[in-house]
Amino acid sequence: MYNNPALYDACTAHKIDDIPFYENWVNDNGTILELACGTGRIAKHLIESGFNYTGLDLSSVFIDHCRSKFPNGKFTTGDMCDFNLGKKFDLIFIPFNSFLHLYKEEEMTQCLKSIQNHLSDNGKFLLDIFVPDPEFLYRDPDKKYEEMTIIHPNGGECTVWQKNQYKEETEINHIHWFFNRGNSKPMDEYDFDMRMIYPDTMDRVLSDSDFTIEEKWGDYDGEPFNETSLLQLYICSKRS
Ligand SMILES: C[S@@+](CC[C@H](N)C(=O)[O-])C[C@H]1O[C@@H](n2cnc3c(N)ncnc32)[C@H](O)[C@@H]1O
Repeated sequence: MYNNPALYDACTAHKIDDIPFYENWVNDNGTILELACGTGRIAKHLIESGFNYTGLDLSSVFIDHCRSKFPNGKFTTGDMCDFNLGKKFDLIFIPFNSFLHLYKEEEMTQCLKSIQNHLSDNGKFLLDIFVPDPEFLYRDPDKKYEEMTIIHPNGGECTVWQKNQYKEETEINHIHWFFNRGNSKPMDEYDFDMRMIYPDTMDRVLSDSDFTIEEKWGDYDGEPFNETSLLQLYICSKRS
């Protein structure tokens, strides 16, 4: 999935509800670093508004795609667990569940340490992950569930089906997507994993990594996080 920019864009075309959230936290003259920037879904809005934006992603295919699409942005290939850009940023964020691609707590801690090293003293760190949903995690692992319909980059409508298997011992959800473009065409299939991070764990890992959780929202409109929230949206600063 993360080597096919056109397919990734087709699958995330619906995702626009988080853009105002990030626009709200940028300062006119501040420097911005997005970790796991993907194909530039959010970068597009920030660069077009003239902000000083840098994006980092593990996928060199995605980074090459961003470089050719957004000549005014700065993009670098790298691992968010271990990077050194040699400068500080006023706003660092990890959007759209990308942090769930860090499968072990040590990786999360390493990532947060690298963020500490790159965040200016008065800077903000924003993190967006979903709340694990038992109804999704404990579905029948042998059954395919319809996930969404997209316009496939090669043309036509395509139904995306999903299977998943959650392993409690690792807290990792193993996900398999099937792209069905009609019965006459072979289905493309993709595997990816997501670490489920429960609210108490995320609070603890951030706090142990010397972040102050200034606010925790349950949606992009600023509703404080509560037991019915679907999202965990953290607004953090460096602990002084
Ligand atoms: C769900 S996509 C989000 C992309 C983009 N930020 C967006 O909101 O559309 C997850 C991204 O995380 C990237 N990624 C996964 N592990 C990473 C790591 N260790 N360091 C940097 N990027 C990583 C993937 O290459 C992919 O682009």
